[in-house]
Amino acid sequence: MVFTAKKTVLLLFSKNDLMYGMHQETYLTGVKPTGDIHLGNYFGAISPALSLAKDHPSAKKFFFIADYHALTTIKDTKQMSDYRYHVAAAWLAFFEGVEGCDFYFQSCIPEIFELYWILSCFCPKGLLNRAHAYKALTAQNKEIGHDDDRNINQGVFSYPVLMAADILLFHATKIPIGPDQKQHVEIAIDIVQHLNRQLQVPIPVPEPVIQENTPLILGIDGQKMSKNYQNTIPIFESEAALKKQISKIQTDSKPLGEPLNSNDCMVFQLHQLMASAEATQQMQAEYSSGCIGYGHAKQRLLAAMLDFFSPARARFFELIHQRDQIDALIQSSLSNVQTVATANLRAIKSSLGVSC
Ligand code: TRP
Repeated sequence: MVFTAKKTVLLLFSKNDLMYGMHQETYLTGVKPTGDIHLGNYFGAISPALSLAKDHPSAKKFFFIADYHALTTIKDTKQMSDYRYHVAAAWLAFFEGVEGCDFYFQSCIPEIFELYWILSCFCPKGLLNRAHAYKALTAQNKEIGHDDDRNINQGVFSYPVLMAADILLFHATKIPIGPDQKQHVEIAIDIVQHLNRQLQVPIPVPEPVIQENTPLILGIDGQKMSKNYQNTIPIFESEAALKKQISKIQTDSKPLGEPLNSNDCMVFQLHQLMASAEATQQMQAEYSSGCIGYGHAKQRLLAAMLDFFSPARARFFELIHQRDQIDALIQSSLSNVQTVATANLRAIKSSLGVSC
């Protein structure tokens, strides 16, 4: 009897719990402030993080603006500052009223950078040589006959180590990310396995959480929506600017009166993401019958988008003009974040024989 009871209890724990003792699930993710928030960011990263946060009210949730990661590419003072506040205002607007979330700027937590050095000393250099982003840049240089490392700063090379520090400092267990960041989390896992051999209390091994069913959002030119391709539809622009951008979405040239194919129409697909089921059904019927043209469909898309994002846009515009309010909101998370950071770094330093 006793034996059976014990077995049942064991089954309730995950592998991490058994190895590292019971701990609270901790979700953590970072957003790089390298551009204004667009539909691809929302459906690819923000909306999945929002669902996770709402589905796990009792878990700890850390969301931060990875401004020092952005510094690998953004060197202009005003641009950095503007993107930083834009992204912060957007996340604060979307997460308004969601329980248990801490928001912070990465650059405000110096412990991350202290841990970054420690982790560098536990990270095999070959792991970084093999990182996709770095490899893609060296490959580009090779192709044009330049030195492999031309114009690549050390920050780009050690980017995954800083990301590991972001994650491991807070003992994060679940890392919601897009598929492009999977290798970075795998590198963090590799590093923590090396470091844990030296620690008195091991750090939990984090797990990437990749939302498989997020829709692929295409930009106005039909390629994946990305700032790099300059094909994004921003969320926090004036109505006139949104209208202009939506009007540029590529379509075929079927004239009004001919049935339109909803399957390969980006206007239809974007509309579907933001409109009600009835509005989608109605638009489907109009596409099939040919009684709607692309111009009209684009107007519907704009209306659906403005409606869908109405609360977030209102809050964003309120915040963006008052940076001190953004600072104050972030400040309210900071003491909690700082307490965790200080305690966790102290434990690691002590295990390594470098406590002060
Ligand atoms: N590199 C991530 C991106 O570009 C941002 C990021 C930085 C991050 N640190 C992180 C994501 C830690 C998850 C966990 O999207």
